[in-house]
Amino acid sequence: MCGIFAYLNFHANKERRYILDVLFNGLRRLEYRGYDSAGIAIDDSLSRHPNQKCPGSSPPLVFRQAGNIESLVNCVNEEITKIDLNLDEVFYFHAGIAHTRWATHGEPAPRNSHPQSSGPGDDFLVVHNGVITNYEVLKETLVRHGFTFESDTDTEVIPKLAKFVFDKANVEGEQTELDQDKSNTHVFKDAHFLSKNEHPKEFFLSSDPHALVEHTKKVLVIEDGEVVHLKDGGVSILKFENERGRRNGLSRPASVERALSVLEMEVEQINKGKYDHYMQKEIHEQPESLTTTMRGRLIRGGSRKAKTVLLGGLKDHLKTIRRSRRIVFIGCGTSYNAALASRPILEELSGIPVSMEIASDLWDRQGPIYREDTAVFVSQSGETADTLLALDYARENGALCVGITNTVGSSIARKTHCGVHINAGAEIGVASTKAYTSQIVVMVMLALAIGSDTISSQTRREAIIDGLLDLPNKVREVLKLDGEMKDLAQLLIDEQSLLVFGRGYNYATALEGALKVKEVSLMHSEGILAGEMKHGPLALVDENLPIAVIATRDACFSKQQSVIQQLHARKGRLIVMCSKGDAASVSSSGSCRAIEVPQVEDCLQPVVNIVPLQLLAYHLTVLRGHNVDQPRNLAKSVTTQ
Ligand code: F6R
Repeated sequence: MCGIFAYLNFHANKERRYILDVLFNGLRRLEYRGYDSAGIAIDDSLSRHPNQKCPGSSPPLVFRQAGNIESLVNCVNEEITKIDLNLDEVFYFHAGIAHTRWATHGEPAPRNSHPQSSGPGDDFLVVHNGVITNYEVLKETLVRHGFTFESDTDTEVIPKLAKFVFDKANVEGEQTELDQDKSNTHVFKDAHFLSKNEHPKEFFLSSDPHALVEHTKKVLVIEDGEVVHLKDGGVSILKFENERGRRNGLSRPASVERALSVLEMEVEQINKGKYDHYMQKEIHEQPESLTTTMRGRLIRGGSRKAKTVLLGGLKDHLKTIRRSRRIVFIGCGTSYNAALASRPILEELSGIPVSMEIASDLWDRQGPIYREDTAVFVSQSGETADTLLALDYARENGALCVGITNTVGSSIARKTHCGVHINAGAEIGVASTKAYTSQIVVMVMLALAIGSDTISSQTRREAIIDGLLDLPNKVREVLKLDGEMKDLAQLLIDEQSLLVFGRGYNYATALEGALKVKEVSLMHSEGILAGEMKHGPLALVDENLPIAVIATRDACFSKQQSVIQQLHARKGRLIVMCSKGDAASVSSSGSCRAIEVPQVEDCLQPVVNIVPLQLLAYHLTVLRGHNVDQPRNLAKSVTTQ
């Protein structure tokens, strides 16, 4: 949600056009975090031009535009041509900040885009991600002191407040503190990731490592509450002793020493390769992403040794988890659905009650979390604000907190006591696909690890491990349905709605399939627990409304057959997903379109079953002419509440 990128170069002889290209490319890498407007500002205010009296004597150039990054690029190019601007003459050194926005306060419009300014002269320019919860009261104060506001954003109070405090050192009795929501808030040139190139005179800052990897893999990860100061080619990190000290100005910041970390990411991973869209690429790379998720974690056993699972990040905590009174899964959206798909096998193999919490709802209710609980936080990005709030809450209540994320070094990875990385590789498409299947696999492995001390379930566990080892092949097989799902999408292209019925392991598949369809193709879709069909949804059934029923072989198969019959009896327009060889039997009581998928172990079936629905959502979106990778109003990582 909102992407921040900044670039600072102290190369006296660097090609001047370079800074624009660096900023635009940085924004392109971050566009998936928000894409309703964008902006940049460049100046030399951090440096000294030998022919200038003082730094910053050239006013900054600021460009802001509604729409995607390319609209900004066109706007900047037009302006530069119009004013015949020679960047070489204007700036000697370069400092640039850039922003791609997901609107919270104020519609997408140039005036609401970032950088936001302190006013005439642009003394302070800010790009920001997060929410200033007390911005209204600050705005009133600043207006009383003569400031004029131009935007509807909360962000604009930041540069104006900076100017106010800077100009008038003694402002007693006025509120001049920012109340920021608990999500990350980055101001001025502060960002999560600070990277220092091999050459000490070039710095890249980004809220996301994707924008850094083409420049360098060596990064400094910035923690909450830290301020980064870049000056004369040097970098220092300052940390305030505690929140209160930072707020009332009592504590002096301490200097922080931190070693560089190395990004484990290749540029190729974040390119589309031979595919038209990231979502398409990510759906098709699931056999490989699943293999990577399992690599080194499944121990095949020997003649006398049982097959088992090794999750390094949990090995010291398994005993505590086994003693838990309850395991609570906490997440949002797709990550929640992945946890739901894994709940039955975790209950079966651990014998511990497993409850489900949507992160925002847990926080809204301040639901009970106990010291004896194990709270498992599932998040692809590791940065979702609602999940982070729930994590802080669970920690305060003394629960053991386990993180399952796809992002090494993310806030959730850092704040949990222990955890497992899903290692699915960078996921760029806003609709989560490969992370979902890898999350399920990790949670099945979690269930296997917790249950590994129970002899009575050893045969079952070994069958699941065999199933896991073969899962990439089965996913490869189900991906061959691509053409069939495109044909189905063609049939559904003008529909208003699609219902998806599932139960047991595949209730989650129904929810997740419907979520994929609605978020990218913009067609209404609802996942329904089939056991609830007779308690309301049946009223919707007629010969027009398309209904997908998931009826692959597992303990719920016979119940799903009777659901199909009841739908046939009401002339329902059915699409039935069934196991290979079952097409004839599921359509024996009425006509339907059958999609046959390979059968796997029941707890792994959601991994196979979601793939045709991902493909359907993808093709529906393309055929309906919508943006696959940047669905309307959404952003990849939801870092505001
Ligand atoms: C849907 C989707 C979202 C995310 C949700 C949580 O395709 O991607 O529903 O799953 O915003 O995000 P993470 O997993 O990053 O916490």
